[in-house]
Amino acid sequence: MPLYDKYDSLGLSSDKQPIVIDIGTAYTKVGFSAETSPRAILPTQVVDPETKQCRRLDASARPSDLYEFLVDFVHHLCFKHLLVSPKDRKFIVVESLLCPTSFRETLAKVLFRHFEVFSVMFAPSHLVSLCCLGLDTALVLDVGHKESVLIPVYQGYPVLHAWQAEPLAGHAVQSSLSSLLKAALGNGGDASLAVVEDLPREVVEDIKVRACFVTRLDRAQQMEEGRDPAPPPDASYREGSVPGFVIPGSVRERAYEVLFQQDNDEVAVPTMVLDAIVKCPIDMRRPLAENILVIGGTSMALGFKARLQSELKHLVQTSKYASKLAVRTFKFHTPPAKENYVAWLGGALFGGTDILNLRSLTKEVYLKKSEVPDWTSLEYNCRDEKTM
Ligand SMILES: Nc1ncnc2c1ncn2[C@@H]1O[C@H](COP(=O)(O)OP(=O)(O)OP(=O)(O)O)[C@@H](O)[C@H]1O
Ligand SMILES: [Mg+2]
Repeated sequence: MPLYDKYDSLGLSSDKQPIVIDIGTAYTKVGFSAETSPRAILPTQVVDPETKQCRRLDASARPSDLYEFLVDFVHHLCFKHLLVSPKDRKFIVVESLLCPTSFRETLAKVLFRHFEVFSVMFAPSHLVSLCCLGLDTALVLDVGHKESVLIPVYQGYPVLHAWQAEPLAGHAVQSSLSSLLKAALGNGGDASLAVVEDLPREVVEDIKVRACFVTRLDRAQQMEEGRDPAPPPDASYREGSVPGFVIPGSVRERAYEVLFQQDNDEVAVPTMVLDAIVKCPIDMRRPLAENILVIGGTSMALGFKARLQSELKHLVQTSKYASKLAVRTFKFHTPPAKENYVAWLGGALFGGTDILNLRSLTKEVYLKKSEVPDWTSLEYNCRDEKTM
């Protein structure tokens, strides 16, 4: 790639600065280490230039399909957004501790065998997010697109037996919003129903982000008891090729309730926090409750943190938790970046330190063994680490 190499040698780009990527189900954040924000936050999808067909990330796809997708996607990231060649570069991949091993292995294969990168470091998102705040103890809750994942971290170690993961995040809100819109506009029996019947996913997401909000606990309780409070104003929506229609105020207010209303198993986002604290040893509980870090794009919704705070205060007084938990105070940290790229920023800070060289898997080692160290395997978790 002479053009890109020349671009590098002119010093116009970050020459050989490690690349940091956080591949999310909905959005990928990509940039260079030791920078304060990603160069791009883009949908995790590849558009075929000829057919204009859009392929999205499916971590459970066949390994060969996933391999093909990742080759196209990493190529797109490096050559269209970062404008550098990935060859012989160091990579930091920010990933969830619960990321499937098959995904990690396929990504390593793509980076080492196809792009011939110099080294890759897999950085657990919940741990590196704490780098941004200089903390070593916190309850980290990631409310992204596909699921909410909570992992308590105590003195730098993840408390794995207390982890919680539920499919309560952006996707669940969008599904709830679609059905609320259909129910509300269907009653009118007008042309609006035809519009909302087949709203594209992007439009539903746009309505969610721009028109919906998380309501207060007292209003939510009234709605649950059937004493509907006066709804907020309706909003008219008109965007691009979608014919205009009105979003009822009650729909705007109720869309996020799916995250807070307990399901048949009595699980919701606030109970995940309390259940995790209950599973931790007694001496860890107070420090964790007083150091909550909420990250992920869905937590940027208007009113999300205030509602979570009041739900926690309310729930600890209910019979389910009052006897199990003596903690009454919950404190939230404000990260130094927008919530959707806090984990990326943690990876970028981590990549700016010398630890990167100690913790990375190099091409040489990978090509010899063709495997990626995995924390779930005891082989790599003994004191005397053989692979690093
Ligand atoms: N300002 C905002 N208000 C509400 N929701 C938002 C906002 N910005 C982004 N989102 C939502 O956040 C989600 C994306 O967040 P994020 O980038 O953390 O997810 P992801 O990393 O792709 O997903 P996951 O971590 O589940 O794999 C999307 O559902 C998006 O609609
Ligand atoms: Mg994410």
